[in-house]
Amino acid sequence: MAEQIQNLKERIDASETRVAKVVAPATTNLYDTLFGGTLLAWMDEVAFIAATRFGRCPFVTVSLDRIDFNHPIPAGTIVELVARVETVGRTSLKVRIDVFVEHMLKADRLKAVTGSVTMVAIDENKKPTPIR
Ligand SMILES: CC(C)(COP(=O)(O)OP(=O)(O)OC[C@H]1O[C@@H](n2cnc3c(N)ncnc32)[C@H](O)[C@@H]1OP(=O)(O)O)[C@@H](O)C(=O)NCCC(=O)NCCS
Repeated sequence: MAEQIQNLKERIDASETRVAKVVAPATTNLYDTLFGGTLLAWMDEVAFIAATRFGRCPFVTVSLDRIDFNHPIPAGTIVELVARVETVGRTSLKVRIDVFVEHMLKADRLKAVTGSVTMVAIDENKKPTPIR
């Protein structure tokens, strides 16, 4: 049992995924901050990568859980998305995503957004299949 928990922890650690992006004009809204829809796409992608690294099988998104946009993300900043598998079910798993905003020219860093995404492992018929 202790070995299984250790193995799970190692797989979760190994599948943690970090992606950094620049908040450039093509990604911003009318108010010069990051467009929420763009961030959701980035969150979905980083969650997908973490799930895939964890399970090494095809995954699809079944649910975007609560997403909290706590701070605006200004144009001209760097964002870092950190995705980590939080819970593992039979065919699904939940990935937590923390989004940090970082000033380009100062070592300032703030957690701006948090959320989670549920992904389901699918087989060749696109039906749920157990995560190994
Ligand atoms: C994902 C999909 C294959 C699931 O098929 P399904 O027959 O509804 O799945 P099931 O009811 O057997 O549930 C499978 C697992 O997903 C979980 N699940 C299903 N719907 C869920 C939801 N809305 N939120 C959270 N978990 C959900 C179930 O709890 C189950 O988890 P478990 O096996 O770990 O206990 C199907 O809904 C689908 O193809 N959806 C479209 C996916 C897609 O195209 N995503 C891209 C975005 S457009």
